[in-house]
Amino acid sequence: MSERSAAPVGAEVLVASNRGPVSYGLAEDGTLTAKRGGGGLVSGLSAIGPDADAVWVCAALGEGDREAVRRTGGALDPADTGGQRVRMLDIPAEVQAAAYNGIANSVLWFVHHMLYQTPLEPAFDAEFRDRWAAYESYNRAFARALADEAAEGAAVLVQDYHLSLVPGVLRELRPDVRIAHFSHTPWAPPEYFRILPDDIAGQLLRGMLGADRLGFLTHRWADAFRACCAEAVGGIGDTVIGVHGLGADAGFLRERSGRPDVDERLAALREQIGTAPDGTPRRTVVRVDRTELSKNIVRGLLAYRELLADRPEWRERVVHLAFAYPSRQDLAVYREYTAEVGRLAEEINAEYGTDRWQPVVLHVKDDFARSLAAYRLADVALVNPIRDGMNLVAKEIPVISEQGCALVLSREAGAHEELGDAALTVNPYDIVGTARALDAALSMEAGERRERTARLAAAATALPPAQWFLDQLQALRETTPKRATS
Ligand code: F6P
Repeated sequence: MSERSAAPVGAEVLVASNRGPVSYGLAEDGTLTAKRGGGGLVSGLSAIGPDADAVWVCAALGEGDREAVRRTGGALDPADTGGQRVRMLDIPAEVQAAAYNGIANSVLWFVHHMLYQTPLEPAFDAEFRDRWAAYESYNRAFARALADEAAEGAAVLVQDYHLSLVPGVLRELRPDVRIAHFSHTPWAPPEYFRILPDDIAGQLLRGMLGADRLGFLTHRWADAFRACCAEAVGGIGDTVIGVHGLGADAGFLRERSGRPDVDERLAALREQIGTAPDGTPRRTVVRVDRTELSKNIVRGLLAYRELLADRPEWRERVVHLAFAYPSRQDLAVYREYTAEVGRLAEEINAEYGTDRWQPVVLHVKDDFARSLAAYRLADVALVNPIRDGMNLVAKEIPVISEQGCALVLSREAGAHEELGDAALTVNPYDIVGTARALDAALSMEAGERRERTARLAAAATALPPAQWFLDQLQALRETTPKRATS
């Protein structure tokens, strides 16, 4: 343990997120193994570096994490975190589950992504109110930990819908600190946001408005938030709103995708994809997602099936690499969706597959090196979410695809604001329209594909994650804190 981890108080910069930069696996013999997390937030925060006076506050999310907290008192060993000071909170498991599964993922995620579809959902009943109480308590636990850790006048950057109430509570506890909150999701328009009970909607918005600065990934989500506030709480008051679109980390992707483990997987995938009847390598349509309702994987498969039905000339000449990594499996609706993806892939293979050709290659085991190998191979990238805060896959594939890839992109992904000009835009609900876009993408002439890929890659890397974080930190430090104006 370093000296720094022995005195983790009074940090100048704090980040708070539900999931931290590292999670622990617990083996039967009691060994703990730290696994570093991926994603934009982790890369963004690495910009601070271990020498900065910064602390990342996150929650223990599984047994391994809880054991790590028991052994360290919550101040994780910097050897596990790349030198970053991380304080992991052990909030009671039932509170954590109700807040994370019961509210954040089943209610707030569904509202922001406009996912409710059945006559029975949402159900804002007495059980919901109990889960909401857990969500409040979860948020208070984070706010207290941040209040304990923050130096006078510190900058606190709270992340996402799991922690919407933290700014308001923290403001009460520590009026001296500057607070930002960043939403990595879309924000629902008022007509949909209004689904939430009025008191809960008001509490949520006022909680976020406790921040000095609120950040969103696109203007569209920021405008929707403003409109919700205008309707429900009379406006945003003196809170500043900033838009910070998160980009792909080109340097990291290029270096990482050139390593031998990626080369190995590339060779294995090439073998699996095989060659068309004329001896040329088969074309690839690539998607890489968490198995997530909002990612619209089922409609993507239906569109691919429609392509094979409507354009028989593509049979035997194309393979759909669908990497769909199970996520949020504590929720029945996610388990069912995961099963549906598997069933449909099998159906398509049974319907169209031959001795020499497997139309869909579905991989469900999360393997970052294999995802990167698929990025390198992609002729077409399929990114068709129903709604998505940004979608980094749409930005990452063009950066490292070897022969240039045509991007079929949902107009409902945040990334569309930046990439729409060079992509083939689809309405994610339109299966036939998506099939036609896949056909156009597969048929695109090589020169045009390369030219579009260059434009996509330039737009995708315009705001690298490190810059994304540092810009927000700088902006927060320049904001006049609310206590000075009130
Ligand atoms: O905002 C979306 C997000 O919270 C991101 O951190 C990430 O893309 C995803 O959802 C992770 O979800 P979970 O933590 O539930 O696995």
